[in-house]
Amino acid sequence: MNNFKVAIGSDHGGFEYKQAIIEFLKSKNIDYVDVGTYSKESCDYPVFAKKVCEKILSNEVQRGILICGTGIGMSIAANKIKGIRASLCGDTFSARATRAHNNSNVLCIGQRVIGEALALDIVDIWLKTDFEGGRHQRRIDMIES
Ligand code: RB5
Repeated sequence: MNNFKVAIGSDHGGFEYKQAIIEFLKSKNIDYVDVGTYSKESCDYPVFAKKVCEKILSNEVQRGILICGTGIGMSIAANKIKGIRASLCGDTFSARATRAHNNSNVLCIGQRVIGEALALDIVDIWLKTDFEGGRHQRRIDMIES
């Protein structure tokens, strides 16, 4: 596994998977910072999307993981922030491809959409896969500009 730090956050709709992903990160000795939420009490997902993305932009961490009910709200919120490339993934092919081609720096997951074992596989592959660069970097530069 690459040597990096991950910021992780969720709303109430993603709280259980956040805890499961944290256990996975611990088992792989991956450094992480948990920005909340810290209970199942109803809360607002944009708050946690912003917290995770700010840690990436300040270089405190290299990658972020965001979980809500669908993963959609988190991905919309995160992708509003310049420099963030958030990918909502519900399959392992997309998780691999979005790292290799899009240099995705935030992974979004929907707790109410996919099973926990698949979510953990997606996290594993997304963390392990390197960006391919080359023609893909040119396309990312186009998005940034
Ligand atoms: C919360 O009920 C739910 O709307 C939220 O977790 C997420 O699915 C939004 O996109």
